[in-house]
Amino acid sequence: MSKLAMKGGEPLRRKPFPKWPIFDDRELDAIGKVLHSGVWGIGGEEKKEFEEKFAAYQDAKYGVAVTNGTAALETALRAAGISTGDEVIMPAYTFMATATAVLHVAGLPVFADIEPDTYTLDPEKVEAAVTGKTKAVLPVHLGGCPADMDGMGRIARRNDLFIIEDACQAWGAEWRKRRVGAIGDLGAFSFQSSKNITSGEGGIVVTNDRSLYELCWSYHNCGRVMEGPWYRHDLPGTNCRMTEFQAAILLVQLTRLEEQTKRRNRNARYLSEKLSKIEGVDPLKRDSRVTNHAYHLFIFRYDAEEFAGLPKNTFIEALRAEGIPCSPGYVPLYKEQFMLNLAEDRFLSEKYGKKVDYSHVKLPVTEKACYEEAVWLFQNMLLGTTEDMDDVVSAICKIKKNVEELIS
Ligand SMILES: Cc1ncc(COP(=O)(O)O)c(C=O)c1O
Repeated sequence: MSKLAMKGGEPLRRKPFPKWPIFDDRELDAIGKVLHSGVWGIGGEEKKEFEEKFAAYQDAKYGVAVTNGTAALETALRAAGISTGDEVIMPAYTFMATATAVLHVAGLPVFADIEPDTYTLDPEKVEAAVTGKTKAVLPVHLGGCPADMDGMGRIARRNDLFIIEDACQAWGAEWRKRRVGAIGDLGAFSFQSSKNITSGEGGIVVTNDRSLYELCWSYHNCGRVMEGPWYRHDLPGTNCRMTEFQAAILLVQLTRLEEQTKRRNRNARYLSEKLSKIEGVDPLKRDSRVTNHAYHLFIFRYDAEEFAGLPKNTFIEALRAEGIPCSPGYVPLYKEQFMLNLAEDRFLSEKYGKKVDYSHVKLPVTEKACYEEAVWLFQNMLLGTTEDMDDVVSAICKIKKNVEELIS
């Protein structure tokens, strides 16, 4: 009789992990208050209050709350003046919006490899990718783990580059006791449904620079001028303003974030310790300069050799069958069809004076992470109990012990 659930055995776990999103009557009251106020959009108090509170939470002076994280990235890029043909160095191990935001402002993503033990942008590889056209570096604080901001700072100073942080997964994360977002020039956060603080959709740009703040504000508000007349538009801006409903929900969500982040960190440390004892399972390293991790994702590196050659995707299927939700994560962005199609775009080629062709890009650490190693667990699982973490460990041990069932 087979032991593994994938082969018809009994799953190790049938209980669900804590569900997400978490809310209570306070969100209900907050929405009711906005409804009754009659001010649902521009001009209300909730958005302003959230911008101030969230920016302060991230150790930033200013915040501009927008419709989503993609819009936050685009707003930040526009404020930094990134435009036609400007190169922006970023990892390829990230969500597609990191790259599309750059394409939307007519810039060009340039992919640099990640560090093998943290999966965040490798400063050495960034340095090697700098050209005369580079305008910005766009580190991603992957899964809530800050990228090496010392390294990014050094390269940006030496080459006169903007640093725009993709902090879409990194609420409350700290590098050397400083919260991310405005360590560089600008930072973007997301509040989409899966995120550790959510209003269904939503985003914010933060910065410490007054003039960048005013540019972000103007861009997200149809190019208007602060304190200027309603029908004066100095920039070809857009409308990506956050609504009062979203801001009201986020103000309540923010009150839970600190405690939830502590809980995620406690469980992640426990899980890391247990998993490191299993040969073939290696949680991503936490640099000692990371003084707080947001743990949007808990990522470990899988080594098929220690599991009798079982491919990563089959391991993931087996883990899911045992009742442990997990994901293989990203594919390298330069392998995505939307990136490869750029080579066929004649309009783009004319605009940039060259073919925009990503088919020759090859980043070995990124590819290994995507195709062989990375296994993701989700933030809501880390809100569970120690016993929930033990189930993750036991399920992996069970697969390892009975792996032959999946090989033959
Ligand atoms: C790393 C990263 N960048 C950008 C985004 C885009 O945010 P949104 O989905 O709110 O537009 C996300 C969200 O999924 C993300 O995880």
